[in-house]
Amino acid sequence: MSTVRHFLEVDDLSSGELTRVLDLADAPPASTLLAGSGAVFLFEKPSARTRASVELATFQLGGHPVSLRNEEVGIDTRESAQDLARLFSGMGRLIGARVFEHDKLERLAGAASVPVVNLLSDDAHPIQTLADLLTVRHEFGRLDGLRIAYIGDANNVARSLAIGCNLAGATCCVSSPPGYEFSDADLARIAESGPAPEVFDDPADAVAGAQVVYTDAWYSMGQEDEMAARRAAFADWRVDDALLTGSDPEVIFLHCLPAHRGDEATDEVLDGPASRIWAQAHNRLHTARGLFTFLVGDRSGEAW
Ligand code: CP
Ligand code: NVA
Repeated sequence: MSTVRHFLEVDDLSSGELTRVLDLADAPPASTLLAGSGAVFLFEKPSARTRASVELATFQLGGHPVSLRNEEVGIDTRESAQDLARLFSGMGRLIGARVFEHDKLERLAGAASVPVVNLLSDDAHPIQTLADLLTVRHEFGRLDGLRIAYIGDANNVARSLAIGCNLAGATCCVSSPPGYEFSDADLARIAESGPAPEVFDDPADAVAGAQVVYTDAWYSMGQEDEMAARRAAFADWRVDDALLTGSDPEVIFLHCLPAHRGDEATDEVLDGPASRIWAQAHNRLHTARGLFTFLVGDRSGEAW
């Protein structure tokens, strides 16, 4: 008998299941999996890549996507997260949500009878990590033993990446400005999945010997009023060609996007020979499809 599986953080998958999802991302679509049905996606925050990729992934699996902005849905204002889960569980085969507070996802999942997928919360962005890891695997043919350096804000993207590295056997090396590092609670959460990230004061030390250098915006959605203070604090954490010089000669550069060009990364890096940001963005489609296939598909009899 199959039980409902949710994907709120990367380690909702085992290491073997993560590999399976990445394999499914590389496989042709199971084009009838969602036939006659579809998925419902809720957005409390803006989105370009995530919305397009989950909608198109649903289409590629034979289903119809329904995306709703929070002005229409009002999670916990017009209707509770739990009641929305009960509603949409009877309509689609999967629910996705992009929210501010992570506990909304947990309450959606607690009441849903179909899989709930985190499309980004203030705490985590695991569906992004799937595309990140697939991009790295395409480049190097493996994930284990690689050094993946994250430079900048220790945010939702960084937390999920660190957990993904643990599941994949990669080492996550992090450098963040004072005041913007992983909290003790973050480190404890990451430690549930494996080793603590290697933390460096100097970004040059974090990227030394790294095969992957990754950054994200200095201010996330909802932090726009902190822009000036953050730009001052993060000025020495910009990824430029000089920083990449100390990394592995085969280094690739990743960014979840959207980029604030000239802030967290220079145009030379974003558009340079090490950059794989567009392959990474396009892999959002393939990994969303792989994840949905895994979550909705019949897993009975398979041991991953
Ligand atoms: N990386 C990412 O999630 O992009 P969007 O915010 O455009 O969906
Ligand atoms: N850390 C960013 C990621 C955007 C995809 C944010 O939360 O806004």
